[in-house]
Amino acid sequence: MRRIVAGVSVLIAAWVVWGLQGGRVEASDNAATPEFYTTQVQPILRANCYRCHGGFNHRGGLSLQTRAGMLKGGHDGPVLVPGDPAKSLLVRLIRHEGPANDPMPMPPKSPKISDADIAIISRWVQAGAIMPADAAQP
Ligand code: HEC
Repeated sequence: MRRIVAGVSVLIAAWVVWGLQGGRVEASDNAATPEFYTTQVQPILRANCYRCHGGFNHRGGLSLQTRAGMLKGGHDGPVLVPGDPAKSLLVRLIRHEGPANDPMPMPPKSPKISDADIAIISRWVQAGAIMPADAAQP
């Protein structure tokens, strides 16, 4: 009997741990949520892009700081194709896969952002480029 109780306890403990991890992964790792944008994507853009594409700076006609700006795109048109990173100018430029000069790779004259950061942005676009309506607030 004691052995059965112990066995059942282990099973319950394993189930609880599994459930907790599942919940955590769900919350922070699902790229199709506004939270994914604010916690994972926006910090990358803020650190690497806002100084030229945020505030009063709209280099290339592009603001990345507001949802409206992201959706409007820049001088060359839309920069995001939700669900299709390979067709999204923003992703192609940070992967240095875009046109060689016009527009130039981003960030310009700096090293590529890290592969991990590129992967996060690609996953976010793949999942639909979902961002909260108030992403305008820095
Ligand atoms: C040092 C300033 C600077 C930084 C930092 C910078 N950009 Fe740019 N960006 C520019 C300029 C200037 C252009 C216009 C380039 C051109 O037309 O050749 C541009 C153009 C673009 C365009 C194309 C807009 C269009 O329609 O032509 C995209 C997309 C873009 N940037 C994304 C980013 C992203 C994403 C980051 C951060 C990883 C970033 N940029 C960082 C200066 C910057």
